[in-house]
Amino acid sequence: MAARKVVVSTKVIGSAQTEHQSTRQQTWRPERCDHGGDRRCLRRDSGHQIIRSQGERQMPITAFNSFADGLDSNRRNRGHFIANINPDDDRRWVPYAEGVWLQPCCFNVTSGGFSVVLKALPGAKLGIHYHVGTVRGYTMRGQWRYLEHDWIAKPGTFIYEPAGEAHTLVASDDSPEPVLVFFAVEGGLIYLTKAADGGFGAYEDGFTLLELCRKYYRQADLDVRELEALIR
Ligand SMILES: [Fe+2]
Repeated sequence: MAARKVVVSTKVIGSAQTEHQSTRQQTWRPERCDHGGDRRCLRRDSGHQIIRSQGERQMPITAFNSFADGLDSNRRNRGHFIANINPDDDRRWVPYAEGVWLQPCCFNVTSGGFSVVLKALPGAKLGIHYHVGTVRGYTMRGQWRYLEHDWIAKPGTFIYEPAGEAHTLVASDDSPEPVLVFFAVEGGLIYLTKAADGGFGAYEDGFTLLELCRKYYRQADLDVRELEALIR
């Protein structure tokens, strides 16, 4: 199976930090990250993903490390399951962006999507991103909004987002408590380098999120098999 391909400019997922490499390379080939790893690495201080830049071009995409769930086919369960989220167990929150964490509910290796409960501290922000597929969200706690829309989500607010939606998630500064939202995301999403005419920053889907969660679980001495039970 050929490796999936991905792009070129550099971005830290979920933050406004971007940087561009000013190399003059004309050909696309593997590049190692600053952290001693390969092209796709985890930023040491925050767990955010970084994808390297090559030159001024923004396509084509360079290869990801992981393009599968890593399970043998005879270990991949297709049956029903339940996942119990525990908002009060700090260790189970996977760091995602500054002031933003998630607890995974499902990694959908059929659609490439995923479901998570997101936690965001008041004032925290998730950088602008574009959704390839639909998103459904249900707000459990706190208040938040997208900068691109005029509504404010409160506990009980359901949101449907069509494919092609691009938005910047912000937890309200005056939210009375940390925001908790359940999101069911179909397909991948693309972080942009800036709101207007932004280029490719980074890519996220059920596979990349699984990789991120596995790494965190190992670091936190949590049982990775709990994640594998969420793969469908
Ligand atoms: Fe989104």
